[in-house]
Amino acid sequence: MTKSNLPGPKAQAMIVRDRKVISPSYPRGYPFVMDHGKGTEVWDVDGNRFLDFMGGIAVVSTGYSHPKVVKAIQEQAEKFVHISSDFYHENWIRLGERLNEIAPFKEDALSFMTNSGTEAVEAAIKLARYHTKRTNFIGFTGAFHGRTMGAVTFTASKAKYHGGFYPLMNGVTHAPFPNPYRPVLERRKGEDYGETVVRYIEEEILAQVLPPKDVAGILVETIQGEGGYIVPPEGFYPALRKLCDKHGILMILDEVQSGMGRTGKWWAIDHFGVEPDIITSAKGIASGMPLGACIARKSVMDWEIGTHGNTYGGNPISCAAALATIELVESEFMQNAAEVGEYAMDALKEIQARHQSIGEVRGKGLMIGVEFIKDQEGKEPAHDLTERIVELGYERGLLMLSCGKSVIRIAPPLSISKSEMDEGLRIFEDALTAAEKEVK
Ligand SMILES: Cc1ncc(COP(=O)(O)O)c(C=O)c1O
Repeated sequence: MTKSNLPGPKAQAMIVRDRKVISPSYPRGYPFVMDHGKGTEVWDVDGNRFLDFMGGIAVVSTGYSHPKVVKAIQEQAEKFVHISSDFYHENWIRLGERLNEIAPFKEDALSFMTNSGTEAVEAAIKLARYHTKRTNFIGFTGAFHGRTMGAVTFTASKAKYHGGFYPLMNGVTHAPFPNPYRPVLERRKGEDYGETVVRYIEEEILAQVLPPKDVAGILVETIQGEGGYIVPPEGFYPALRKLCDKHGILMILDEVQSGMGRTGKWWAIDHFGVEPDIITSAKGIASGMPLGACIARKSVMDWEIGTHGNTYGGNPISCAAALATIELVESEFMQNAAEVGEYAMDALKEIQARHQSIGEVRGKGLMIGVEFIKDQEGKEPAHDLTERIVELGYERGLLMLSCGKSVIRIAPPLSISKSEMDEGLRIFEDALTAAEKEVK
């Protein structure tokens, strides 16, 4: 079933209006103009229905307009919309208590609430400098941490994010992200590739370029998102933790995309048995209401009153939405993400067996990446094919997004059912088959 007239007349007219008044910098994909959504389904302004495999870029964790989230927002809006972070309110405190319960370390957690992922990363950077009294950081190639001046300095997934914006923040050195499918460093006997990367940091960066006593933190996305949905090898985090402990460096994990139940556990790091010092969260935390958090060990979040703040931190409606979201993720959707995620991985591996253009299927829970290649030996990224699959999926009623050089990410609402997954994967394979015939 192909929707041949996309975008429809109403969508086309709105896009014309948008171009006249909205910043041209937004990286728009295909011309989808939202009207409304329910669960995993969305409708555009011309009445076309789509299944959503990208969930507002991994944000709509409980599905579109979950009744419990809507009710929490409505009830809070009727009481008060804003009070300012100079004062107190219960949902904010309660959210701090919930984050303390689920934080991926044994020590008590303190949280600084933000309005976005990038602001949570800014908070983590500032906190790390303040706490350690050190200035420098290590980040990773392929990373995405946001677009404000500090966070964007760490972002290294596209040169476009830096071009025209120099000078960036001082003191960030990038190491290669441990991508086991595309290693760039030579592995020694007995090492897994994650350990190789940590050895590189120790031997090539800390010993030769950047003295460890000047390094405040190492910032890394636990599973790399925009860079291609890349899961590092098992040995990476244990080795990184050891390195951080040896030199008094903070381990800062960006869980903006990978956290909040998406991988079938609260945090992606919960799959690796390692405790970080600081984590950042946003996206799925409040089902789409703007909210982020920088969550740190109590002993680390030691900045004094007045040193950092914001007007909207702990916004009452966002906190209410987050509490309802956490409740739903805990009671049903985290488990669902684990089950439907495993089901989807199996189905995708069957699809892979039928299509030479798929190089790798990888991921955890409902954070799944499918990497497309031009040939099995050289593994050259098949960028045009990937973009064409996304377009053809849209025309057939499936919203998808690419990431990395040639990866399609599957990051639907955590509430997606197996039958919706089946429907989406049928469209995905249909689009893939058609794209393979078109793009050589
Ligand atoms: C891992 C990660 N960190 C930070 C951000 C930035 O979040 P925001 O767009 O809310 O500023 C993103 C956004 O995609 C992300 O994926």
